[in-house]
Amino acid sequence: MARESWASRVGFILAAVGSAVGLGNVWRFPWMTAEYGGSAFLVVYLCIVLLVGVPGLVAEFVIGRKSKRNPAGALARLAPGTKSWGYVGLFGVITGLVLLSFYSVVGGWILRYFAASFTGSYFAEPSAYFGRISFGAEAAAFQVAFLAVTALIVLGGVRGGIEKATKVMMPIIVVLLGVLAGWAVTQPGAGTGLSFYLDFDPTPIQNDPIGMLRAAAGQALFTLSLGVGTMITYASYLGEDNSLAFDGSVISVLNTGVGVLAGLVVFPLLFAFQGGLTEVTEGGESGAIFMGVAGAFREMPYGEVVAVGFFGAILFAALSSSISMLEIPVAYLVDEQDVSRRNATVGLTGLVLVTGTICAFNPGIFDFVASTLVDLMLTAGLAGFLVFTGWVLGKDALTEFDSGAGRIARALGTPWLWSVRTILPLFLLATLAVNLYAML
Ligand code: PHE
Repeated sequence: MARESWASRVGFILAAVGSAVGLGNVWRFPWMTAEYGGSAFLVVYLCIVLLVGVPGLVAEFVIGRKSKRNPAGALARLAPGTKSWGYVGLFGVITGLVLLSFYSVVGGWILRYFAASFTGSYFAEPSAYFGRISFGAEAAAFQVAFLAVTALIVLGGVRGGIEKATKVMMPIIVVLLGVLAGWAVTQPGAGTGLSFYLDFDPTPIQNDPIGMLRAAAGQALFTLSLGVGTMITYASYLGEDNSLAFDGSVISVLNTGVGVLAGLVVFPLLFAFQGGLTEVTEGGESGAIFMGVAGAFREMPYGEVVAVGFFGAILFAALSSSISMLEIPVAYLVDEQDVSRRNATVGLTGLVLVTGTICAFNPGIFDFVASTLVDLMLTAGLAGFLVFTGWVLGKDALTEFDSGAGRIARALGTPWLWSVRTILPLFLLATLAVNLYAML
């Protein structure tokens, strides 16, 4: 059977933006920004997106489009004679499953908050509610529902499932967040939130430069879905050759735009209705945003309506990312093991039901997987993909980069290749070392 492909370039771009825009933008980003001192984090994060994220994204595109294979097959195929590169790709396939195991827990929370928003049942006691639903049998039940929807979309295939779903979901996300942001920034008291978010204050950078850099790097990779092979897989479904540098830039800009937009909803909301970030910081880590916005919904008129819009947008964002995680191992089984899409999807979803339930029942394991483990795996994975692109593909990477590229993009090819060969992997390996050191 012929390998699947996207119906159009726009379809590919929207699917990739769908993968990038997700809980990383709405849940992890405001949490990190709050934890690392607001605007300073935003600035460092934006620099890393630009200098590391965009070139990294293009490198994954190059591998995917050139090989027309899943990450494991791609690296094995493009480096014939050595088995070891195939394992680097396989590492990405496994990372996809690890990601989905914790991501689907959060997806389940979102589904639950979305349903409960219609009545506002969680408004009265935000912390107690989150405490009740976040881990245990009920969390697992909602996780199963979230995974089922994810699997249904992936079952539909590249065009009929992923491309169609993201084409519908992405515009809805942007409109909902845009309307909410427009409303939130005009609320009395929103100004303090905005200045926390947007007025640059370098003190937090001076206080903990390494910690800030580490968190910003992890967040930049996570939000652009880098280091797993999602972007390799999505680019492997490209038919004709368009400029990968251009598409990569568009995707990064859109992703960052949605991230900033989400910030424009969350921070004014918290400051205007919650008096700041106390609930966020006191609530700690993963539940922060849920408790924070719940308290804000309680205080505002028509809180239920705002809540439905807010959690509806996040639900779509989460789904368009979770499908991209499941698609990596599905593509692997379809390409390499000759398994049908149907059997691959059903079997892998079954597997994630097991690994995911472990996360849904154990907050300790969940936290470790969601932050430390994911940061490590993504950083190591992307370092591997970059070294592969720069040193194994080398000039061939440049040829692939140039194919379909315009004049401006082509002028950027050589500097891109050199940064992919040298400074970028070094930066990632240093980040990895610091991360490992911090674990000790
Ligand atoms: N980028 C997604 C988000 O921000 C998460 C993701 C990471 C998706 C890696 C796929 C691969 O939520």
